Amino acid sequence: MTTTSTYDVHTVRAAFPILQRTVHGGKPLVYLDHAATAQKPQAVLDAIGHYYRTTNSNVHRGAHALSAEATAAFEDARAVIAGYVGAARNEEIVFTSGTTDGLNLLAATVLTSAQPGDEILLTEMEHHANIVPWQMVAQQRGLAIRVVPVRDDGTISVDDVASLLTERTKVFACAHVSNVLGTINPIAEWSALCQANGTRCIVDGAQAIQHCSVDVQALGCDAYVFSAHKLFGPTGFGVLWARYDFLDALPPYRGGGAMIDRVTFSGTTFNAIPMRFEAGTPHIEGAIGTAAAIRWLQEIDTTERIAHEDDLLRHTTAAMTAMDGLTILGTASHKVGIISFVVDGIHASDIGTLLDNMGIAIRAGHHCTQPLHQRFGIDASARASFALTSTREEADMFVEGLAKAIRMLR
Ligand code: ALA
Repeated sequence: MTTTSTYDVHTVRAAFPILQRTVHGGKPLVYLDHAATAQKPQAVLDAIGHYYRTTNSNVHRGAHALSAEATAAFEDARAVIAGYVGAARNEEIVFTSGTTDGLNLLAATVLTSAQPGDEILLTEMEHHANIVPWQMVAQQRGLAIRVVPVRDDGTISVDDVASLLTERTKVFACAHVSNVLGTINPIAEWSALCQANGTRCIVDGAQAIQHCSVDVQALGCDAYVFSAHKLFGPTGFGVLWARYDFLDALPPYRGGGAMIDRVTFSGTTFNAIPMRFEAGTPHIEGAIGTAAAIRWLQEIDTTERIAHEDDLLRHTTAAMTAMDGLTILGTASHKVGIISFVVDGIHASDIGTLLDNMGIAIRAGHHCTQPLHQRFGIDASARASFALTSTREEADMFVEGLAKAIRMLR
């Protein structure tokens, strides 16, 4: 087979200072925990440093040059992010502290006119951040939670989604990509079902944003949330995109500065979107660093980077499938480079510890998905997750290290 790929992982990787370091007495760092957080390229570190060295100031408030420059950079970041996800207008982009914050905002505001007995539909593969906020609002308002089951291969049947959407389903909140199974869900199909049913489709894009090309128009959902730190940007910053009319109709979430129009002791009127949802001094360098991450990523061919990660996934999966007593959770044909697994008779955290001693960073535990682990009859799993910087050499070191760890623990 001939290949025309010009993807040079070593050049991409060279942009990440942290990936050059060693751990545990000189062992090269093999970082395979990108599903927990991605590392940061020099361009992001530079943008944040430059902001603090030259521009630091509060936004939308100051009567001086620095504030005007900071505001321009902050709003430019909104435009970059809007363009990256295909938002129709910059006002559709609300800055949050992360995916969890965005989901809490939506859960607290979308269902204010729901009646007792109305339903919220979730999937069995949801992260706790896309379960607990909905449970909290369900308890307050007497709503019912229904759950679409996950099949043995880590996928969800579209027919199951269709049959669980009832005339009372107000919201379907679902992951675009599972943080455990790696499954890429068919959001466009699900959104179409929701639209036909009069149900709001709210998507947790925390994992997808790093691996997939996200176009909110093509997905057809009502809202999409993600964290910047999984997109090679800073921690503590996130994005909520929602369709203009939908977002504009939501009540305020947090009260404070910047989200108001006029305040008196007898009452307050509120600012237009997106400011209505951005109370308090925002995470200014978070926005600027995220725009830098997106600009950096846009220099890389999307098709080629996705193909590179897919090659790592298939290569590693093939090697792991041959290992005795090892089961991979999630074998969907359409998945990203996240491989969670269990090994008969061995606890995931022991595997994590031994691999760490070899310089290989993975995650072990329930990955904030206890219901999904219960569905597979386990408490915990080990998880290796690739990014566009991961190499075949790293994949092989992981497989060899895993085989060694299993031999030591048996
Ligand atoms: N949600 C992140 C993970 O899956 C933290 O590891």
